Amino acid sequence: MSSSPLAAETRRRRTFAIISHPDAGKTTLTEKLLLFSGAIQIAGSVKARKASRHATSDWMEIEKQRGISVASSVMQMLYRDHVINLLDTPGHKDFSEDTYRVLTAVDSALMVIDAANGVEAQTRRLIEVCRQRNTPIITFVNKMDREVREPLDILDEVERELGMPCVPMTWPVGKGKSFGGIVNLRTQAMTVFESGSERRPQDFETLPLSDAGTLRRRFEGEWDAAAESMELAAGASPEWDHQAFLDAKQTPVFFGSGVNNFGVMEVLDALVDLAPAPQPRKSSLIVNRQPQEKIIQPDEPAFSGVVFKVQANMDANHRDRIAFVRMASGKYTPGMKLKVQRTGKELRPTSVVTFLSQRREAVDEAYAGDIIGFTTHGGVQLGDTITDGASLQFTGLPFFAPELFMTVLLKNPLRTKQLQQGLAQLGEEGAIQVFRPQAGGAMLLGAVGQLQFEVVQHRLKAEYDADIRLEGCQYTGARWITADTPAELRAFTDAYPQRMALDAADALAYLCTSPYDVRLAQERFPRIHFHPLREHA
Ligand code: G4P
Repeated sequence: MSSSPLAAETRRRRTFAIISHPDAGKTTLTEKLLLFSGAIQIAGSVKARKASRHATSDWMEIEKQRGISVASSVMQMLYRDHVINLLDTPGHKDFSEDTYRVLTAVDSALMVIDAANGVEAQTRRLIEVCRQRNTPIITFVNKMDREVREPLDILDEVERELGMPCVPMTWPVGKGKSFGGIVNLRTQAMTVFESGSERRPQDFETLPLSDAGTLRRRFEGEWDAAAESMELAAGASPEWDHQAFLDAKQTPVFFGSGVNNFGVMEVLDALVDLAPAPQPRKSSLIVNRQPQEKIIQPDEPAFSGVVFKVQANMDANHRDRIAFVRMASGKYTPGMKLKVQRTGKELRPTSVVTFLSQRREAVDEAYAGDIIGFTTHGGVQLGDTITDGASLQFTGLPFFAPELFMTVLLKNPLRTKQLQQGLAQLGEEGAIQVFRPQAGGAMLLGAVGQLQFEVVQHRLKAEYDADIRLEGCQYTGARWITADTPAELRAFTDAYPQRMALDAADALAYLCTSPYDVRLAQERFPRIHFHPLREHA
């Protein structure tokens, strides 16, 4: 690897997402990571922003999450001379599309599981995405201070769910009321557990494993049981292989109790010592009008990045939006001229921010792996590639074919313009997918989760003063359409004029009423490609 200053900056960056099922302890762990890295001084600030789990309706919950996500969806911290970018993943299952996209912006994931519940439904879905992308996963087994499951049992489940072997890095001694602490298998020392949230990691007592007499005296049967299970685990797990972890073929496992600040430092250190620095990213480059794959290295001098999230301003009076860009290469400095590749237009942000210490701050400089937020009045879409000149387009940001469709009916026809503007912007933000039937008629909204409709209906009214009614319609799916030749495409669109629609990015889609529909159309037009997933390209 190069020894340039750019390469050095890149090497000291870590960009990861925390994934978990609600209540496993993601917020608590996030807060402790920020606290112990020095990014925040007092515990409670992340927690305070977290939506109440007992909101009166699911919908309110989402609105709150939206508010929170502006403030804390990206957090940057400095630890051991490393810049760590932590990306939160929205918790609600109906917003899984958002989460998938966040996962395209990271180089690793930290999976938090509740030691009593193991791998739960929502974690499973997120794991699938990580697996598809070969994202390395660090596992944190939380809540060891509770009456939880046996560690071997948990490892077994994680292994099965992840489809890769676990390599324990720490090992618990006891659990619940008799939780004695964790053994650090690398340093061969035991950190003794004490409950409470005031204690700093360095305040915990440590005992060397070589002092077996003391350990046995202090922890009695718990120690013997832990020593036995530790041996069994060591026999059952492979040797730690860093490369295998980076290739998503092993997961290191840590045990602890987030709320008690216990076992958290080990995770923070693992992010520095084990997690990968920013990785090369795939893009396509247009050469002689033909797209060619090009791998962009993080320490290339030219600036490039991709918009993986667009967040409308929470203030209804301001139409500006923040485009979150994951930098793929180069260095960002204020005032730099950047171009949106899709339109060829210059990006003219009103402000550019980073997320150090959870505050939005004007950015001084940023490098590959960093997330920067560009506030704009428009002109930027989800999936857009931003560069300082080069014509390339990052690939891999997924849009999933919706499974739920509704027709939009405007209550006051005089508000048509506002409705169109609102739908265009919400579509660009990825809040919902908007389809314009080519044969004319009412716009269609497509969603992956039911709640997306409610949020969009509310936001259209609140932010665009467009009051809509949503009506069910016959469609149950969509497939994005491509063909090898324009003539083939034309033959297809001529055959199904009523079924063709354009989405927010003007990509052509075929609307279907049942899975048989697609099969029949495919049989009739074998040379047409039907895509259930659209990658921005
Ligand atoms: P989430 O973001 O994954 O949804 O989880 P969050 O951190 O909010 O944690 C969910 C609940 O689990 C919280 O309790 C939190 O205090 C608790 N918790 C987190 N880590 C641990 C742990 O290591 N041990 C134990 N015993 N509990 C833990 P709550 O009662 O819902 O909220 P609060 O009133 O305690 O804040």
